[in-house]
Amino acid sequence: MIRRVLAAEVVRVAEEGTGDEEQGAEKAVSGLKAGKVVGRSRAKSVRRNGSVEKAAIVVNAEDRRTVIEKRRKTKRTKAVRIEAEEIAEGGQAAGVAREVRVKEAVKAAAVGEVKGRAEETAAGKVVEVAVVKIKDKAAGKAQEIRAAIHGREAIREIREEMGKDKLRKFAENLTFENLVQPEFDEIFGRDHKLKGHWAADFFGNDKPIVLELGCGKGEYTVGMGAANPEKNFMGIDIKGARMWRGAKTATEMGLGNVGFLRTRIEFIGSFFAPGEIAEIWITFPDPQLKKGREKKRLTAPGFLDRYRAFLVPGGMVHLKTDSRELHDYTLEVVAEQGLELHCASADIYGEGLAEVYSTLQIKTAYERRFLTEGKPITYLSISLK
Ligand SMILES: C[S@@+](CC[C@H](N)C(=O)[O-])C[C@H]1O[C@@H](n2cnc3c(N)ncnc32)[C@H](O)[C@@H]1O
Repeated sequence: MIRRVLAAEVVRVAEEGTGDEEQGAEKAVSGLKAGKVVGRSRAKSVRRNGSVEKAAIVVNAEDRRTVIEKRRKTKRTKAVRIEAEEIAEGGQAAGVAREVRVKEAVKAAAVGEVKGRAEETAAGKVVEVAVVKIKDKAAGKAQEIRAAIHGREAIREIREEMGKDKLRKFAENLTFENLVQPEFDEIFGRDHKLKGHWAADFFGNDKPIVLELGCGKGEYTVGMGAANPEKNFMGIDIKGARMWRGAKTATEMGLGNVGFLRTRIEFIGSFFAPGEIAEIWITFPDPQLKKGREKKRLTAPGFLDRYRAFLVPGGMVHLKTDSRELHDYTLEVVAEQGLELHCASADIYGEGLAEVYSTLQIKTAYERRFLTEGKPITYLSISLK
C-alpha cells in the first residue's frame, strides 16, 4: 500500500508542476484518489506512460528524503527558489530583494512581513522550508508561519513586475560602454579580441588592472575605482541584471577606469594574457560547501591555476567572505601549495583590520545582509607563486 505521506507528495508534485508535467501529475493523482494507483506494480505501469513519469517516481519513492532529493534536481525547485525570493521581495525583506534566498523568505515569513494565505503550491514549498528551518530553532511555530505566506495572485503579480524589470535592465546593458558581454563563440576555445589589450583598447590608458570576481552589483569594483584613479578595475560576473547596477553607477559617476565583463569565471583564461592583471578581489563568493563541489570554489587549486596564468609575478589575490569554511579552506590550499600569505583575519571588524585597511570598508549587498545577521566577515590576501 502506498503510504499516506507519499500520496501527499504526489498531490504536492501535481500542484507544483507546470505544463505537461502538471497534467501528468494530475492524472496520477486522480488515479491515486480513485484507488487506481495502489501500489508498486501499478506505479510502474503509470510510469511507462511518459507524461506521468514524475508523479509515478514520487509514488514509488520509498522515503521522503529520496523524494526531496529527486525534486531538488528538477527545474521546478529553481522556480520555487525564485518564488521564495519574490515572496521575500513582496514582504520588502531587508531591501535586498533580488539577492535574497529562501532563507530570507523564511525570515520574512517568520517576522510576519509577508502576509497572505499559504494555499498555493510554490508558496507551499516555501512554507515547507520555513517549517523545517523554524522547527530547527523553535519547534511548534509551524502553524503561525503557514499563515504568513503570500497567495498565488500576489506571487504572479510580483513575478510579472520582476520579469519586466529584468528585461529593462538587459536592454539598458546593451547601451553601456563600460560593459562587455561577449557571445559564447567569441571566447569558447579561443581568445577574446581584447586579450592582452584591455588597458589600451578598453580603458584607453596603461594603468594596472584589478579584477573583482563574482562582482554582483559591482560595489567593490565601483568603490575601488572611485578611490584609486591610478588603476583600472574590472568586475566580472555572469548575472546581467546585477551587473546593470554597477555599470550604471560607474557610468553615472563618470568613472573611466571602471568596467564590467559578463562571463563565467571558468572562461577567464580566454580574456587575459600573461601578466595582464595586477590583482584579484574575490568578494563573498558562493562558498560551495556541498560535498563534491570543492572544485567550484573560486579559491580551489584549479581556479588559482587559471589566475596564475595572467597575474603579474607576485600579484595578490584577496578573499573577503562571511564563510568561515571557505576562509579556512583557502588557508589550507595556501599551506598545501606553499603560497605566500600576506594577511588573514577571521573577523575584520572585531579585530580592527577594516579600520586600517580602507578598501575593506567597502560593503557589498551580501556583506550588508551578513552584518545585519551578526556574522563575522573574514579576509585574507595571498600571492600566487
Ligand atoms: C554571493 S554573490 C556575491 C556578489 C557580490 N560579490 C556581493 O558581495 O554582493 C556571488 C556572485 O558570484 C557570481 N558567480 C558565481 N559563480 C560564478 C561563475 N562561475 N562565473 C561568474 N559569476 C559567478 C554570481 O552570479 C553572484 O553574483
